[in-house]
Amino acid sequence: MCGIVGFTGKHNAAPILLEGLKKLEYRGYDSAGIAVMNGSEISVDKVTGRISNLCEKTRDGGAVPGLCGIGHTRWATHGAPTEENAHPHLSNDGRFAVVHNGIIENYLALREELTEAGYRFESETDTEVIVHLIEMYYKGSMREALINTANRLHGSYALGVICSEDPGKIYAAREASPLILGVGPEENFFASDVTALVNNTRNMIYLEDGEFAELSPDAARVFDVTGQDIRKSPVRITWDVQAAEKGGYDHFMLKEIMEQPGAVKATIAPRIKDGRVFFEELSFSRPDLQNIRKIIITACGSAYHAGCAGRYALEKLCRIPVEIELASELRYSDPLIDEHTLVIVISQSGETADTIAALKECRERGAKTIAIVNVVGSTIASLADSTIYTWAGPEIAVATTKGYTTQITILYMLAVYFSSILGYIAGAEVAYTDEIQQLPSRIQQAIDLNPSAEALAKKYHRSKALFFIGRNTDYAVALEGALKMKEISYVHSEAYAAGELKHGTIALIEEKQPVIALCCNHAIMEKTLSNIVEVKSRGAKVLALTFRNNQKILSVADDLLFIPDVDAVFSAAIEIVPLQLLAYYVARENGCDIDKPKNLAKSVTVE
Ligand code: AGP
Repeated sequence: MCGIVGFTGKHNAAPILLEGLKKLEYRGYDSAGIAVMNGSEISVDKVTGRISNLCEKTRDGGAVPGLCGIGHTRWATHGAPTEENAHPHLSNDGRFAVVHNGIIENYLALREELTEAGYRFESETDTEVIVHLIEMYYKGSMREALINTANRLHGSYALGVICSEDPGKIYAAREASPLILGVGPEENFFASDVTALVNNTRNMIYLEDGEFAELSPDAARVFDVTGQDIRKSPVRITWDVQAAEKGGYDHFMLKEIMEQPGAVKATIAPRIKDGRVFFEELSFSRPDLQNIRKIIITACGSAYHAGCAGRYALEKLCRIPVEIELASELRYSDPLIDEHTLVIVISQSGETADTIAALKECRERGAKTIAIVNVVGSTIASLADSTIYTWAGPEIAVATTKGYTTQITILYMLAVYFSSILGYIAGAEVAYTDEIQQLPSRIQQAIDLNPSAEALAKKYHRSKALFFIGRNTDYAVALEGALKMKEISYVHSEAYAAGELKHGTIALIEEKQPVIALCCNHAIMEKTLSNIVEVKSRGAKVLALTFRNNQKILSVADDLLFIPDVDAVFSAAIEIVPLQLLAYYVARENGCDIDKPKNLAKSVTVE
C-alpha cells in the first residue's frame, strides 16, 4: 500500500515530508520520493528501497529548499520498484508534480489517449496519466484542472498535487483511498494516515470520497466536484505521540500484544451502562432482529478469523444462523443476500480492497450492514449503514493482535446486546455482561501465565512445519494462531480441525513433528485429548494450550501454555494471546523483521 504526505507553511518542507514518510514506513513500500516547490521551480528526488536512501540523497532534506511540497512511499502494483516508477511524477513541462495512493483502473485507455495527444510517459505506472491529465486540463485554475482530471479517473485515489504557477499551495483529492488533512497554525498538511501527522498537529479533517482540498499556509479549504467550498470542522486526535511509537518494547508487535488488556477495556467500557451492553451506534428493535434470517460475517485474514471465533457467541445467544465468508470469495460468489440478511464487515484498517468490494456487493443486494473497524474515517466506516469502532488505538505492526482481540470483543458484545433485545437472556444479561467485562483482566492473565513462551520459542523455532489443531472454538483460534506464526516467523504453519486429522493430514505426522493442540473447550476436551494421543502415537511432540488445572491434558502434553479457565464461548480473545507471544518469540529467534514481514502490507488496498 502506498502512502502520501504534503506540507505547506513557513518552514523548509523537505525535512517535514521525510519525517512524515518515515511514519508511513510500516505500511510497506519499495521506493520513495519528494517534490518540493522553491519559487517557481519544482525539484524532485526519488529513490528505490528505504527512506533512509532518500534522506541520504537529500541530506535529510537540507539540500532541498522550498516551503511546500509532497512526498510518497510506493508499494509497487503497476510497474517494478524503480526510480522511474517511483512517485512523485512530473508533467512533461515540469509545472506539475503528483503523488498517488490507489489504482487507476482505466489508465491504459487514458495512456493511449494522452500519448496520441503528444504527452511523453517516463514510467510504467497507472499514476502518471494523472499528471498529464492535469497539464492538459490546466488553464490557470488548479481546482478546475483537478476536478476535470478526477472526472476522467476510474478506480481509487488519494492524490497530492503541486503546481509551479500556484506557489505555496498543495492540492489533494480523495476517492476510495484514505486522505486526511492536518490543520496547524500557519501551516497545513495532508497524509494517508494520522500517524504521519500527529507529530505536527492533532487537528484533523477527514476527506470523504469525491472531496478535494486546497491548502496554503493560512487556509485549509475543502471543495466538491462543482468547485464549491465545503465546511468541514477539524476533529481532535487524542492519541499520544508515544502511542504511535514503540513505548520501550523492541517491536510494535510486542507493544501491541501487551496493550491488549487496555485496548479491549477501551472498546468495552463506553458500551456498558447499568451492567448491560448497549450500542449507541445501532438502533435495532426486536422486530428488526426477528426479521433477520441470517447473519453473514465477511472479512480478510485475521479479521476473518475474528469472525470465525465470534460466531459461536452470536449463534448461541441470538439463535440466528451465522455464515463466515472470506471477502475475496464472497464478492464473486453471487451470494444469497437480501433485506433479511445482516452483514457484519470486519476490518482493522477499514481500507482492505476485497472487504470494501464485498461490503458494496452486500449493500447492493439489500443487506443491512454493520462495520467493525479500528481506523476512524476509513472507507469501510463511511460505506456501512452503521459503524462500531474498536478503540484499539493505532496498530502499527503488520501482524494484527489488538485489532483481532478487540474485533472479537465487539462480536461478543453484539451477541449479548442482540440476545437481550430478542429477550433470550432475560435475567442473565448482567452475568453475560460480567463475562465480557472480565475479558481485559483475563487477557492480562493469559500474558502473565506464559513466561515460558520465550523459552518454548527456542525449542520450536527451527521446525520445518507446525500443525495447530483444535475443535469448534479452539479450531477458530488455531486458524489465527497459525497465521500469526507463519506471517512473522516464516515457519510453515497450518491449522487443522482436530477431527479432520484422520481424513488425510495425519499422514504428515512423523517422529518429533511439533503439534500445537488447543484444548480450551470443556465440552469437547475428551475429543481433543484423543487427537493428542493419536498424533503422539505417531511420534509427534505436543505443545498443549489449556487451563492450568486440566490434569488429563497436562499428563499427555510435552509442553504447555496456559489460559485462565473460561467459558469457551468467550475464550477466543484470551486463548489467542499465548499463541501471539509464541509466534513473536519464534520470529525473534529467527531474526525476522517482525513489524514489517516480507511481502506483507499493513492494509491490502489492492485486489
Ligand atoms: C493480520 O495479521 C494480517 N496481516 C492480515 O491478514 C490482515 O488481518 C488482513 O489483511 C485484513 O486487514 P484489515 O483487518 O485491515 O481489513
